[in-house]
Amino acid sequence: MYIRTIDWKNNKIRLIDQTKLPRKLAYLDIDNLKNLWQAIKIMQVRGAPALGAAAGLGMYLGIKDYPGSDWSGFSRRLNKAAGYIASSRPTARNLFWGIERICRIAENNKKQLIPKIKKIILSEAKKIMREDMVSCRKIGACGAKLLKDSSTVLTICNAGILATIDYGTALGVIYRAKEEGKKIKVFSCETRPLLQGARLSVWELHQKGVDVTMIADNTAAWLMRNGEIDAVIAGADRIAANGDSANKIGTLNLAILCKYHKIPFYIAAPKSTFDLKIKNGHSIEIEMRKAEEVSKILLKKDIAPFGVKVLNPAFDVTPHQLISALITDRGVIRRPYFKNIRKILEREKCV
Ligand code: MRU
Repeated sequence: MYIRTIDWKNNKIRLIDQTKLPRKLAYLDIDNLKNLWQAIKIMQVRGAPALGAAAGLGMYLGIKDYPGSDWSGFSRRLNKAAGYIASSRPTARNLFWGIERICRIAENNKKQLIPKIKKIILSEAKKIMREDMVSCRKIGACGAKLLKDSSTVLTICNAGILATIDYGTALGVIYRAKEEGKKIKVFSCETRPLLQGARLSVWELHQKGVDVTMIADNTAAWLMRNGEIDAVIAGADRIAANGDSANKIGTLNLAILCKYHKIPFYIAAPKSTFDLKIKNGHSIEIEMRKAEEVSKILLKKDIAPFGVKVLNPAFDVTPHQLISALITDRGVIRRPYFKNIRKILEREKCV
């Protein structure tokens, strides 16, 4: 089954409502910025590259009804949309990258008539989606070389189709290895608190015919200790110039466990997730989310005494020292990261 997370259809953003999975594959049509902001906030759409695409299309929603013909008013409207989308979630670099890309293309074309600029913005937003489809396949091709036949991979959160347009980063590596005829077994961490592993990764891997077994997050060490895991592959929300990588909370635990058990720990992400303006992971803003995500199961059933204190950071940062390699759409990057990230990201092709 072909699954597409986000698209532009009938003048609206069409996306899979990820809060409904795995019970129901339902789509959401969004025609205004407020609803897009809400969809990002409550994670109807989520995952760094999908957020980049949502941001691009959202920028178009923000300006498409601008009635004027003057650049200054138009650019104020554009900046307002940019600030609004940027306020939805802080950590994924791709969200900001998508916004910046649209602002840049608009600025570069500011001499054009406003209807033409609107067209250019929409076409750039569509280009972001097309590029992601290609990038993820390149990540898959680069990463699959690291997996031997009959490997068992552990993953966390969802860095698959549902976090991108239609292929995935970490899970893209698994899909590619499978396409190459390798037998790959996957363990998916359920990923508390919002269970993206259980609800999303297990669902899509299952749809794609991958041999997947779900585990509670705290089962990972036991599996590694028993020699069951050959590699861990996770996605990333933002990668600093030195390779420090932010990803779903719990990723750091896995990286530390991998170090102890001498298991390769890989981060898979496109160039658009890298933030070379920040030197290291200390500068990555970690989103803090509401207590109910932890104190209730899926925001519904209480599992803790009413009013209990809760801490709910959505991401953690894995220091580059714990990362065996970064699997990107330009190639596999190994240490020294600071030097090699710059060098390899400049390449046009995956090698
Ligand atoms: O809070 P989420 O579900 O948006 O977090 C997503 C992740 O941490 C993903 O692993 C990451 O964005 C990589 S997606 C290819």
